[in-house]
Amino acid sequence: MALLNDQLKDQIVVVIGGTSGIGLATAVLAEEGGANVWAASRSADKIAACAAAHPAIHFEQLDTHDVAGLKALFDKVGPVSHIVGAATGADRTMAPFMEQTDEQFREAFNKFWGYTNVVRQGVPQLLANGSITLVSGTPARKCNPGMSSVSCTGNAVEGLTRALALELAPIRVNAVAPGIIDTGMFDRFGDKKAAALENMGKNMLLGRVGLASEVAQAIILLMGNPYMTGTTIDVDGGALLP
Ligand SMILES: NC(=O)c1ccc[n+]([C@@H]2O[C@H](COP(=O)([O-])OP(=O)(O)OC[C@H]3O[C@@H](n4cnc5c(N)ncnc54)[C@H](OP(=O)(O)O)[C@@H]3O)[C@@H](O)[C@H]2O)c1
Repeated sequence: MALLNDQLKDQIVVVIGGTSGIGLATAVLAEEGGANVWAASRSADKIAACAAAHPAIHFEQLDTHDVAGLKALFDKVGPVSHIVGAATGADRTMAPFMEQTDEQFREAFNKFWGYTNVVRQGVPQLLANGSITLVSGTPARKCNPGMSSVSCTGNAVEGLTRALALELAPIRVNAVAPGIIDTGMFDRFGDKKAAALENMGKNMLLGRVGLASEVAQAIILLMGNPYMTGTTIDVDGGALLP
């Protein structure tokens, strides 16, 4: 899935949460498009596997909640063209709001605080014609009962995107909102993962769940298009339709 042009040639791209799923697919696509890519996450095992599979990408160990670690990474990278926040960054409790403890509900927002950390530490290194892309999710605007935590954090991400686009211009700030995408997020299903995703896909307009590379394409578009800011692209196979 190569890029149609060399818009990212020699650009510096940092993908936080870049060792799996949507973040990794974005890092790979950006590198294929000619960018110099840095990708980070917490797990040494994932970093080692990714570094072996993608030797042209610089992988770094980092937690989005480690502010000093984020600052050190951005200081090491230097001037940055594009920052992508794709880390899951939190445990979410999928249960009705009134059946969750306050702690469970608040924990979901650690994804959001991870993103705010990335923005705060990354912006000082971001070039004026650069961009930030964050990942929200379909439940921000259409969710089922039991999804209040992902809905609220997704809305927070999309609200932050619009607010930062105003404050940081001409730096561009955008979001993508994935629907159900086949990534490491569903590894918790173990050996039932493929069957579970196939079943979920049967209820989708396009008859299948999405691929990480399909979301990555939208992130690459947002990075490269110099007239897009404050927007959220839905990559959800039509999930928002009634
Ligand atoms: N897949 C879907 O259906 C879907 C739908 C809607 C929204 N999303 C959103 O899409 C984003 C990407 O998720 P994904 O589906 O690609 O999941 P994934 O395959 O599990 O990838 C998540 C990535 O984030 C990293 N990560 C998690 N917590 C981190 C932290 N605290 N600090 C640094 N890195 C961290 C993980 O690596 P380590 O474990 O090594 O840290 C991994 O590289 C997430 O924000 C998720 O909420 C996904």
